[in-house]
Amino acid sequence: MQRTLEHPLARLRQWIEEERSEGVSFPHGAVLGTLGLDGVPRTRMLGTYLCEDGAPKFYTSPSSTKVTEIHKHRQASLTFGFQRSLRSVTIEGTLTALGTQELEVGWQEFDEDFRRHYLVFGPTSGSPIESLERLRAERDLLSPGAEAKRPESFIGFRFGEIHRVIFYAVMAHDFAECEEYRPKNDGSWTKVLRVP
Ligand SMILES: Cc1cc2nc3c(=O)[nH]c(=O)nc-3n(C[C@H](O)[C@H](O)[C@H](O)COP(=O)(O)O)c2cc1C
Repeated sequence: MQRTLEHPLARLRQWIEEERSEGVSFPHGAVLGTLGLDGVPRTRMLGTYLCEDGAPKFYTSPSSTKVTEIHKHRQASLTFGFQRSLRSVTIEGTLTALGTQELEVGWQEFDEDFRRHYLVFGPTSGSPIESLERLRAERDLLSPGAEAKRPESFIGFRFGEIHRVIFYAVMAHDFAECEEYRPKNDGSWTKVLRVP
């Protein structure tokens, strides 16, 4: 076991950018795992973004199942599967709700087309629906510029505390590398190389 001051999330940013530079259009997509109210682990794909300190955050709708689950159990895991470079990063930690200011900025960063669609589906995301026609009709009735204002249904979370980060890289003609980081109380990290 090794003690290091190097923050592991700097490597996450680097790996996302390397994947993007290889032509992958959605390298910031990752799978979020939460614990269902019935005790069943649940996963789903999300677009994620990195906070200034490198911690991942994501946006979602309050009516979604994951939000109910997060309110009950704040612990979650997030896995990036980098298909082009055959690498993965898994983060385990505790989720914290994003503040209003961060949500306002996040909302404006999405393109107009996505925001107009979100205004329609965000408030009831996850509810059963017969067909998408009703949503399309609602979308077509939106007034110009309606997307400028963030709706209450646009919320988000970030990894506040991080308990474990695992980097796994498959190598050509050699063993895969698996490195596990855990935070210590003094701001440093322990780093363990594990048999792949
Ligand atoms: C490429 C892609 C990106 C997605 N991005 C998001 C996202 O950023 N936020 C989100 O809430 N759901 C996103 N989804 C939908 C989720 O995978 C999921 O279906 C939805 O959030 C409902 O999940 P839940 O019922 O577990 O809450 C995305 C799906 C795909 C395929």
